[in-house]
Amino acid sequence: MHTRRALLRAGLYGGSLMILSRCGDGPEELKGDPGQMQQAATFGLPLPIAPVLTPTSTDATTDYYDITARTGTARVRASGSLTPIWGFNGSWPGPTLRATRGRRVVVRMSNALSEPITVHNHGHKVAASSDGHPTDYIQPGTMKTFEYPNDQNAATLWYHAHTMDITAPQVYKGLAGFYLITDSLEQSLNLPSGAYDVPLVIQDRVFNADNTLSYNVDSSSRREGFMGNVFCVNGAETPYFQVARRKYRFRLLNGCNARIVTLELSSGSMVQIASDAALLPAPATRSSIRLAPGERVDVVIDFSNYALGTSVTLRNQDDSWDSGGSWGDGSWGGSSSSGDIMRFDINRNEAETSTVPATLLPITRFTSSQAQVTRTFTLSRDRSSDQWTINGLAYNPARIDFRPRLGTIEKWIINNDSGEDHPFHQHLIPFQVLDIDGSPPGAGLNGWKDTLLIPSRGRATIIMRFEGFTGIYVLHCHILEHEDHRMMLQQEVIA
Ligand code: C2O
Ligand code: CU
Ligand code: CU
Repeated sequence: MHTRRALLRAGLYGGSLMILSRCGDGPEELKGDPGQMQQAATFGLPLPIAPVLTPTSTDATTDYYDITARTGTARVRASGSLTPIWGFNGSWPGPTLRATRGRRVVVRMSNALSEPITVHNHGHKVAASSDGHPTDYIQPGTMKTFEYPNDQNAATLWYHAHTMDITAPQVYKGLAGFYLITDSLEQSLNLPSGAYDVPLVIQDRVFNADNTLSYNVDSSSRREGFMGNVFCVNGAETPYFQVARRKYRFRLLNGCNARIVTLELSSGSMVQIASDAALLPAPATRSSIRLAPGERVDVVIDFSNYALGTSVTLRNQDDSWDSGGSWGDGSWGGSSSSGDIMRFDINRNEAETSTVPATLLPITRFTSSQAQVTRTFTLSRDRSSDQWTINGLAYNPARIDFRPRLGTIEKWIINNDSGEDHPFHQHLIPFQVLDIDGSPPGAGLNGWKDTLLIPSRGRATIIMRFEGFTGIYVLHCHILEHEDHRMMLQQEVIA
């Protein structure tokens, strides 16, 4: 294990080369120097921004959308062939859905792929029948209707494949998109909006020489979590984005299968305004942000702080960095690496129209003593089977692991017994963080969350109220290969 961690620590190329080198069949992508290939393509493509999907029809209460999961091709790399992908409406990422609190959305999801899929809207408080449970299959050639009530705070959600045992390869091929909810409070704040509100999904990938995606890992490597050797943003390799000298809101989603990133700008800082499930109570200036698979942060970058004609790079911080972050104990590093993600080119002056108010979303904090039920979850690696487990169990869709009651406040103590960091994700409802390794959450974690990185050998306590719906919902590690290896349980919320 130490050898593996050391190899991963060695960097962006080290991790993936190590994984690929275990393959028996001599993958093509190892020929040549991946570093050279990456250099040649860095900042070669403009940032794609997924189109906002237009409803097929609307009525007094509801917007109706039709989406088809199908194969497609995309200009992912600056030169060479287009890349075959799987995507919602054939694009990677899929189209962005924009919803308004209180107005219902219905999505008719068709599957034109060769495999069954399920589709989960990550962060949505939704009936179990629309949650995209791992066995709620949409078989090839069939369609399923999802109802999204949008009865929740403005937030950056994302919809993605969530299919039992094959989520990782399906998301890797491109089955993910943004689902954004706005509300009247958010609209009253005058945050950057319209063309200045840009979702960015960050994903690491490996390409074969012909620009096809490589997910060529053997079963034991795959269980650890697949890491790429190049970052893509919105489905383009290390793109550039031309911006005006004013504020922009970026909705940053770590859509990697397994890579935990530490985001920073090559100069200057970001102002975080939201965590996974809602706006923060107050903006927080961040010089770097640790973001695990499944997590989102919305940030504002004020490009008036930069000179006209200059550029600033968003990058994954080198893991020699070792203090001042959320944990600052040096225990991270298993999946860190440095690397360019994208570049902002400040190319014009424009009048500023937006603000970042000092108060965003007021939050009533739960206190530990309000908890009516306390549960403990232990994340481990089972020594005999070498499988990931939660409370010693591998996921079984036929088993109900526990039954929270609607309306109840529960406190969950999550212990990580393993030598890896795991992003823990709860479906249906967001939670608040009470502590991480005994310390109160920092400014970026003191709002509503649905995914939280539990440090290796560490512990976190979260608290939540069960609201909205009864039914069966999963909770799991959001490293997709861990999830596929059954690092998942399920709860039945009861009345
Ligand atoms: Cu984003 Cu259950 O997942
Ligand atoms: Cu989810
Ligand atoms: Cu995990």
